[in-house]
Amino acid sequence: MKRKVSGKHTYKLLHPKIVALVTSRSKKGKENVMACAWMTPVSVNPPLVLVCIVKEWFTSELINDSKEFVINIPDFSMIKEVMMAGTLSGRRMDKLQKMGLKVKRGRMVKSPVIDKCIAHLECRLLKKVEAGESYIFIGRVLTAYADENYFDKKWKDRAKVPLHLCDDRFVKFSK
Ligand SMILES: Cc1cc2nc3c(=O)[nH]c(=O)nc-3n(C[C@H](O)[C@H](O)[C@H](O)COP(=O)(O)O)c2cc1C
Repeated sequence: MKRKVSGKHTYKLLHPKIVALVTSRSKKGKENVMACAWMTPVSVNPPLVLVCIVKEWFTSELINDSKEFVINIPDFSMIKEVMMAGTLSGRRMDKLQKMGLKVKRGRMVKSPVIDKCIAHLECRLLKKVEAGESYIFIGRVLTAYADENYFDKKWKDRAKVPLHLCDDRFVKFSK
């Protein structure tokens, strides 16, 4: 028997999804990080990706301002950081400092890059679409780089990339 899935749980049918730490920076230099699972590649050539971010989140404000963002892929050891980034708002606090994360300036963007993460996609905002409570930010990938221990043209089996199942539950892929 297939039971009806109510509206607020529908999206979970499309999980697990890779969860990233999306970093951003205002033109005046305010930096932030949030957890983001609703993202996907949309074009290989040119390389485009999208992230869906609730309009009222501070990250949306920063991306609207500077027109850039970075997708940082954590590994499973960073679940605590993912949950902090995903439950606190950076509007009234320096979340990156509170989380004690070391950051570098991007190679092609001014937004911060989280050093401890194992892969990074630096993006320039190409287009924004309004959809319900969220903005769909479509980014042109300016450069992407990954730890060669975990990625060589594809994720290696040893890469423990966290996949968000729901709430505070994560799984990892394995053979
Ligand atoms: C695992 C996880 C995944 C999340 N994915 C998204 C997402 O894809 N889009 C979104 O708008 N919020 C998502 N959130 C919620 C935001 O990360 C959260 O509201 C955050 O506090 C926003 O931060 P900000 O206001 O500093 O930008 C997620 C939270 C968690 C814990």
